[in-house]
Amino acid sequence: MARTPPQKPGLEEIRAARRAVRSLFWLVGLFSFFVNLLMLIGPVYMIQVYDRVLGSRSMETLVALTVLVGFLYLIMAVLDVIRSRILVRAGARFHEKLEERVFTAVQDKVAAGFHDESAATGLRDLEAMRKALSSPIVSACFDLPWTPLFLLLIAFFHPYLGAVALLGGLVLGVFALANQFSSRKAVAKAATMGATAQQLADGMRRNAELIQGLGMRRSAFGKWVMMQRMAISSELYASDKTGGFSSATRAFRLALQSAMLGTGAYLVLDNALTPGVMIAASVIMGRALSPIETLIGQWPLVQRALQAQDRLGGLLEETPERPEPMPLARPKAKLEVQAVTLVPPAVPGQVSKPVLQGLNFTLQPGQALGVIGSSGAGKSSLARALIGVWHPAAGKIRLDGASLVQYGMEDLGRYMGYLPQQVALFDGTIGENIARLEQFPDPDKIVAAARKAAVHEMILQLPQGYDTPVQIASSRLSGGQVQRIGLARALYGDPLLLVLDEPNSNLDNDGSLALNQAVAEARQDGRTVVIMAHRPAAIQLCDMILILDQGVQRAFGPKEQVLREHLQNPQVVRAAPGGPPQQGSPQDKQAAAAAPGVSGKAG
Ligand SMILES: Nc1ncnc2c1ncn2[C@@H]1O[C@H](COP(=O)(O)OP(=O)(O)OP(=O)(O)O)[C@@H](O)[C@H]1O
Ligand SMILES: [Mg+2]
Repeated sequence: MARTPPQKPGLEEIRAARRAVRSLFWLVGLFSFFVNLLMLIGPVYMIQVYDRVLGSRSMETLVALTVLVGFLYLIMAVLDVIRSRILVRAGARFHEKLEERVFTAVQDKVAAGFHDESAATGLRDLEAMRKALSSPIVSACFDLPWTPLFLLLIAFFHPYLGAVALLGGLVLGVFALANQFSSRKAVAKAATMGATAQQLADGMRRNAELIQGLGMRRSAFGKWVMMQRMAISSELYASDKTGGFSSATRAFRLALQSAMLGTGAYLVLDNALTPGVMIAASVIMGRALSPIETLIGQWPLVQRALQAQDRLGGLLEETPERPEPMPLARPKAKLEVQAVTLVPPAVPGQVSKPVLQGLNFTLQPGQALGVIGSSGAGKSSLARALIGVWHPAAGKIRLDGASLVQYGMEDLGRYMGYLPQQVALFDGTIGENIARLEQFPDPDKIVAAARKAAVHEMILQLPQGYDTPVQIASSRLSGGQVQRIGLARALYGDPLLLVLDEPNSNLDNDGSLALNQAVAEARQDGRTVVIMAHRPAAIQLCDMILILDQGVQRAFGPKEQVLREHLQNPQVVRAAPGGPPQQGSPQDKQAAAAAPGVSGKAG
C-alpha cells in the first residue's frame, strides 16, 4: 500500500508499524507459495484422469490418484487455514503497534481544542487498516505473482490458449485500474458522509431528553434523515460503480472460461491437444485470474484503508510523539504564572486572538485563589492552561519551579485535581469514575475522595453503591450530584493543585458547605487551590483574588484588598453565606453586578 513519498513522518510511522509485522507477512508469503503450488493438483489430476485413466480404463490408477490428490487437497486446506489465521494476527499486531500512539494523538489533538475529522476518525481509521491487512486482499497480493506463471504454463500447453488467457488477464487488469480511478472519490465521499451522519445521530441520542423537551424531534429527525439520505445516496453511487465492475468482472471471467474451453476444443478437434489438457488449461486460468478478481471485489476495502492511512498519517504528523521527560521528584504546590499569553487553537484558515494576555501571579502552597470575571473573560481558558492541556503561546506556567511541560503528562495529571465547568462521567461505575478509571484503584482512596466531596452517603443510596454503572445512575443523578462526583474525582489521589471551574454552579447549601470544607482541608494539607467562579460562595475560602476582564489581568492580590479596591460591592463576597444564594436572590444579583463591575479602578 506504499503510495506517498517517504518524507512524511506520519506515514513513515505507519510504515514502521507494518514493517514490525513484516515477518508474519513473509510467513503468509511462504504459505502462499505452497498453496499456489498445490493449486496445480486439480489440473494435474484432470489431465491424468482424462488422458490416462479413461484411456487405459485402469481402476487401480484412478483409486491411487484419487487418494493421493485427496491427501494433497487436505494439506492445501490446512495451509490455507493457517495462512488466513496468520493474516488476522498480523492485522491485530499492526493494530497493537499503533493503538496507543493513535489513541494518544487523538486525545492530544482534542485536548488542544481541535475537533477535526482526523481526530474524530483516528481510531476507526486504524481499525479500517487492520481489517484490510487481515483480509483476503493480502493473500490475493501474494497470489498475484503466480498469475504470470500460470499464464506461462497455459501458453506452454498451447500458444493459442496462452494468448486467450493473457488477453483475458489484461482486460481484467484494465477493469481493476478503471475501477480504482472511477470509484475512488465516490467511495471516499460515501465513507465521510456516513461518518458524519453517524456522529450526528450519536449526538442526538445523547441529547434525547433535550430534543423531546424542546419539541425538536421532528426537526432533529429531518436533519438526521437528510444527512443519512445523502450518505446513503453517495454510498449507492459508490457501490453502483464498484458493484458494476465486480459483476462485469465476474461475467467476463465466466465468458473467458468458455472461450478457453472453446479454443481448447478447437485444438482438440485439430488434434493439437488432449481433452485433459483442454480442461486443465481452463481450470488453471481460473486460478490465475482469481487474485485479480478478489482485488476488484474487495477494492472498496482497499480504498477505505488507503484513505484511512492518509488521514492517520496526517493525524500522526500533526501530533508528533512527545518524548516522556526525565521524571522529576514530586513537586511542592507552588504555582507561578509568568507573563502568560494564551491563544486558543485556530480553526484552519482562521487566526485566533489571544484569550489571555500577560497574566502574572504566584501562589504559595496552601493558598487558594478565586478567579472572577464576566462570561468569556477567560476563566475556563486559564483553567485549561493551569492543568497543562493548553500550552501558553508566550510565558511560562511553573509548578515548583519547573514548567508544566517538564513533567510527564501522566505525572502532571496526578498532581492536578481538575473539575471542568461541564462535568462529564465516563461509561463505567461511579467508583471507577471517581478513581479516574484507574485499573486497580484503592477502594479506601475512592471512599476518602467521595467523603471529602460529601457524596459518599448519596452514592451508598444507589442500587449498587459505588458499583452502580453510570449509564444506569445518570438518569437518577441530579446536576449537583454529578458535580459532586466530579469534585470527588478531582480530589481523588493526592493532587497538589486543585483547579475547580465553577465548582458550585449546581450545588445546594450542603454541596457548597462540602466544597468549602474540601477547600479548607486542601489548604491545610498544603495544596494550592484555584477556583473559577461567578458565585461568591465558591470563593469564600479563598485568600487571593484574580480579576480577569476580557483576558487581561485587572487585579491580583489578597482578597480583602482586591475587593476593596476593585469591586463596587466587596461585601458580596465577604458576606456570602456558606450556601450559595438562591436564584435571583439579592446576593446573586449583586454578584452578577460585581463581576463585570471590575472596570472601576482597573489597573
Ligand atoms: N477552543 C476555543 N477556540 C477559540 N476560542 C475559544 C475556545 N475556547 C474558548 N474560546 C474563547 O475564549 C474566550 C474565553 O472563554 P472562556 O471559556 O475561558 O470564558 P469563561 O471566563 O470561562 O466564561 P464563562 O464564565 O462563561 O464560563 C471566549 O471569548 C471564547 O469564545
Ligand atoms: Mg468558563
